Amino acid sequence: MKVELKELREAEGQDIFEMIQEIGQGENGFTPHFPDHDFEEFKRSLPQFVKSLKGIELPEGYVPETIYWLYVDDRPVAYGKLRHQLNESLLMYGGHVGYIVRPTERGKGYGKLVLSKMIEQATKRGIYELLITCDEINEPSRKVIERNAGELDSITNGICRYWIKLDAR
Ligand SMILES: CC(C)(COP(=O)(O)OP(=O)(O)OC[C@H]1O[C@@H](n2cnc3c(N)ncnc32)[C@H](O)[C@@H]1OP(=O)(O)O)[C@@H](O)C(=O)NCCC(=O)NCCS
Repeated sequence: MKVELKELREAEGQDIFEMIQEIGQGENGFTPHFPDHDFEEFKRSLPQFVKSLKGIELPEGYVPETIYWLYVDDRPVAYGKLRHQLNESLLMYGGHVGYIVRPTERGKGYGKLVLSKMIEQATKRGIYELLITCDEINEPSRKVIERNAGELDSITNGICRYWIKLDAR
């Protein structure tokens, strides 16, 4: 199995757009943000995401984040976002990481895989403790986190907060 994690670029192809369309509005608090009706509009939206990862023209209250695509055997199957730092709001809800697997590719281990690959990126960025929040009833996501050594810190109002210690891995 060929596995690659690729950073979002200013120009992406039809394969990524098809995954975005399949994912649609997203679920469980994971908001894709990408236009999913028109390929040209999708392409026009990409430079802004590249700026965002560099921290340029960020809206108030936002932190820089990088979007990663997970490719398996040259097909995009999932993507995730890695925030480079936390703010007060993300500390309570949102955390460092979010991920989504395209619906037709779920249950094949790709959720666990995309998180493990993003953990490698977070380690490279010098993050030593990664926060992930997740709905209490989101069983697949909780397993994804726990299989990646996530330690449950608290459950408040139906939201779980997990920490993954990166230096201990
Ligand atoms: C959460 C999500 C990423 C999991 O992706 P996935 O590729 O299906 O997950 P995996 O195949 O790696 O499976 C992870 C674990 O969940 C289990 N699982 C998968 N689907 C499940 C389901 N519907 N119900 C219960 N457990 C499930 C798997 O058996 C596995 O557990 P195991 O290690 O004990 O075998 C995917 O369901 C998704 O994209 N959901 C919508 C977005 C979302 O919720 N993102 C997370 C926000 S915190």
